[in-house]
Amino acid sequence: MAERPSKGLADVVAASTALSDIDGRAGRLFYRGYDINQLAGSATFEETAYLLQRGSPPGRGELAGYRGEIAAGRALGKLVTASLPEIARSQEPMEAMRSLVSLASADDPDKDSNEPGPNRRKAARLTAQQPVLVAAYDAARQGRESSPADPESGVAANFLLQITGTPPSERETQILDACLVLHADHTMNASTFAARVCAATLSDMHSAVVAALGTLKGPLHGGANEQVMRGLEAVRNSGESDPVGAAGAQVEARLRQGEKIMGFGHRVYKTEDPRAAHLRQMSAELGGVSGDDTYFRMSRKMEEVVFAEKGLYPNVDFYAATVYHYLGIPTDLFTAVFSVSRMAGWTAHVMEQHADNRLIRPDSEYIGEHGLTWTPLDQR
Ligand code: ACO
Repeated sequence: MAERPSKGLADVVAASTALSDIDGRAGRLFYRGYDINQLAGSATFEETAYLLQRGSPPGRGELAGYRGEIAAGRALGKLVTASLPEIARSQEPMEAMRSLVSLASADDPDKDSNEPGPNRRKAARLTAQQPVLVAAYDAARQGRESSPADPESGVAANFLLQITGTPPSERETQILDACLVLHADHTMNASTFAARVCAATLSDMHSAVVAALGTLKGPLHGGANEQVMRGLEAVRNSGESDPVGAAGAQVEARLRQGEKIMGFGHRVYKTEDPRAAHLRQMSAELGGVSGDDTYFRMSRKMEEVVFAEKGLYPNVDFYAATVYHYLGIPTDLFTAVFSVSRMAGWTAHVMEQHADNRLIRPDSEYIGEHGLTWTPLDQR
């Protein structure tokens, strides 16, 4: 008899990868052997994406070439541009991202090939386009065009420019850049697994990324960052004179009713998620600079209560919420911002899967009935 499946495939090793590695007990994360504690703040998102997608850290010339590919890749295709107003009117942000990336394949000159060269070019173009798609969607739903991209700026500065309409400060750019580095890859998370399952059928990179986007959207995965901010906003807007105390009391009550608190817990980390430690510091800094750190203080209180009640740590989505808020990013775009970064990892995983492929087709445990006799409809 086959072994009982692990519910949610917990502890199942589903693929081999040289892209990222987690030490869940020590709370460490590595991209191609580099500790993210080294990368965050000293490697740019472009260097990180290059490392993941092309296998080694770029030299100066390679980085300049990659940045050139990113700048050129920002141009949106005809089908995307024509469909944007209607999509922005009728779809929520992550639905729109799923649609727009799918449409973008029509104008990608490499769409019909899974060979390494075309895949590398598509990976750079998808990484270049994702922030532009988010900003263009946001502008289109407000009936305007997003600010033109600045070819001299990197992904983080350009995204903040296009989304807020104002050139960001150097520190804001550094902080978003570090956020993008921290979210770029994370072993066999649900969206990456979805991308690899799709790629393993020898489907194309755009299709795999669409599968990943649909998977990231869920509140148990990337959708949690938006839910964290919605929770904070709801407590603050309820008119409580002490929003920090109210946030703590509300979390305590919800935990006692058996509810899950978004932004806490993790399948793999048994201690603090190392990304959350960086994001907490960024949130504290930006809250202080903004002159109103209430959301940060509310978050700290929630963290204390969840740890005291359940022994759970915040995950990457918890402090990312307030960081994005302080950077002026609209709340409903938070998960789409996650996709801007994770595009680097998804596309690298698709290439890794294509390079050494076997169809991913696990088995299932049948729990239905056996040996029933079918009665034709007119005799039932
Ligand atoms: N709040 C309260 N209790 C929790 C939480 C939480 N956030 N997370 C886990 N628990 C509890 C569960 O209720 C369960 O308790 P029980 O054993 O008494 O029933 C136990 O911890 C195990 O939880 P599972 O959901 O089985 O753990 P799993 O490994 O399947 O899920 C997950 C991990 C999905 C991240 C979970 O912790 C969760 O739902 N967190 C909230 C959503 C979230 O923040 N998602 C983002 C994750 S990071 C990312 O995807 C980018």
